[in-house]
Amino acid sequence: MPHIIAVDGPAAAGKGTLARRLAAALDLPYLDTGLLYRAVGRLVLDEGADPADAAIAESCARRLQPSDLDRADLRGPAADHAASNVAAVPGVRAALLDFQRDFGRRHGAVLDGRDIGTVVFPNAPVKLFITATPRARAERRWRELLAKDPSATLEAVESEMAARDARDAARSTAPMLPAADAVLLDTTGLDAEAAFQRALSIVRERLGLAATPA
Ligand code: DC
Repeated sequence: MPHIIAVDGPAAAGKGTLARRLAAALDLPYLDTGLLYRAVGRLVLDEGADPADAAIAESCARRLQPSDLDRADLRGPAADHAASNVAAVPGVRAALLDFQRDFGRRHGAVLDGRDIGTVVFPNAPVKLFITATPRARAERRWRELLAKDPSATLEAVESEMAARDARDAARSTAPMLPAADAVLLDTTGLDAEAAFQRALSIVRERLGLAATPA
């Protein structure tokens, strides 16, 4: 099997940026699996339905098209909320599993999400679980949000994020949790470059790759 790097962790821990940079450094394809759940959530909202409605959410997941991942409205509080609700539906997770596995098996990949190391690729040779304190994560997300919505408050972002993390961690199917063999990386005091360097050295060590001179 080609190299699979699993990058899991809660919202705004820095895993997206990190996973994208790892993929570029290792010359592997990259998949942001959160986008799949976001796109399904959007399809449910398009129908005027409730993202927690299991039957509608599953039917949207089954007819997801690659072009749905290119939509411009997959970020922001409404998409966050819809994604986290459809992600708790077992039928949605089952419908998205093959897509993720096929993507990884073709040429190897770096995948970021919540259950990559536990469910999607439990045999991945490298698993990272990226964390940061709730306050540090909320501050990062709040700064991003301010550009679009100057009235956003840190307290509101932090409480919405806590609710989303709780939903992601408490669901019965594929809850967010570190795989037993995952390496934990806390990015609280680290900038993106330092987090990336730390992750890259863990990956190289696990894969037995020599560091290439910068
Ligand atoms: O990583 P993100 O914030 O874009 O993820 C959006 C939502 O999708 C999040 O609430 C958790 C869910 N998700 C999941 O359950 N499993 C994944 N592999 C990726 C995301």
